Amino acid sequence: MSIHGIEVRNLQKFFHKRRKLFRARPAVVHALKDISFEVEMGETYGLLGPNGSGKSTLIRVLSTLLVPDGGEVRLLGHRIPGEEHLVRAKIGRVSVDAAFYKKLSARENLLYSAYLYGMDGRSAERRAMEILEALGLEQEKFTDPLEEMSRGMQQKVAITRALLINPPLLLLDEPTTGLDPKSRRDVQTFLEDLRAEHGTTILLTSHDMAETERLCSRIGFIAKGALIAEGTADELKRRSNAATLDDAFIALSGESLEEGSKVAAVNPDGITPAKGGDVVVPAEGNGHKEGAAEEEEVKV
Ligand SMILES: Nc1ncnc2c1ncn2[C@@H]1O[C@H](COP(=O)(O)OP(=O)(O)OP(=O)(O)O)[C@@H](O)[C@H]1O
Ligand SMILES: [Mg+2]
Repeated sequence: MSIHGIEVRNLQKFFHKRRKLFRARPAVVHALKDISFEVEMGETYGLLGPNGSGKSTLIRVLSTLLVPDGGEVRLLGHRIPGEEHLVRAKIGRVSVDAAFYKKLSARENLLYSAYLYGMDGRSAERRAMEILEALGLEQEKFTDPLEEMSRGMQQKVAITRALLINPPLLLLDEPTTGLDPKSRRDVQTFLEDLRAEHGTTILLTSHDMAETERLCSRIGFIAKGALIAEGTADELKRRSNAATLDDAFIALSGESLEEGSKVAAVNPDGITPAKGGDVVVPAEGNGHKEGAAEEEEVKV
């Protein structure tokens, strides 16, 4: 049996939010509801969904930063929960709000990461410069403290950090949000080249339809924690008789890609049906467990 880049089976994640009222029972947020999908080796797969639909939670679980409450994940054949240490050495992750040591320079932050990955400083620096150049960050910025850089520049450093070890698997949560159009294109071209040259498997979330269509061979629509449809951009549009992915999402989900209303139960032929679906939130879910939360702030 061939190994997939990513295999997600019946994945569940709950969050318990403490209520302000004295002795009130915590509210349960069912952030991921029985999600299942696969990404082939070397494939770029996109996740589209409105705010709060569970995209970042899914990326955090796959990055081993959150422990799932149910289901199983295999990344490059390694199982989580269970083989997190093997997974961490092989993934690069970019989150929309990357954490850095802000007083340190881009160079120092990147060398620190390289050190944690056991890379040789000189080759790490060479690779970092190559990537930053491809992403269009001026060399002289390399030694500026991160806190003096714009958000877009910091995002480029975050992307560089994820790519330093040339990982076979990239988990990218809105990697181009906040970048200007030229920088966005530079990042997209870089990702295309990575896939072509190294066969990197990429899972990407985005709110940018054009980016998703350009980069992703298949796209999953996620709404309220459930994967409601998946297919190529053309399949999704054709099936819903829509001109754009935006319209396809509305047609298939009953809500807009902006935060919205009720999800309709749709299971159209022609498009791989979403596995799983709406699940009633149990009064007592599993606990909200954190994994190796290196850089995540836990909001409970
Ligand atoms: N640490 C947390 N504690 C409690 N609830 C959380 C936590 N993280 C996420 N959630 C909840 O889980 C749900 C999914 O959030 P998530 O951040 O995964 O959405 P998203 O699809 O990434 O949204 P966006 O497009 O805005 O980035 C939301 O209801 C959110 O409030
Ligand atoms: Mg998010």
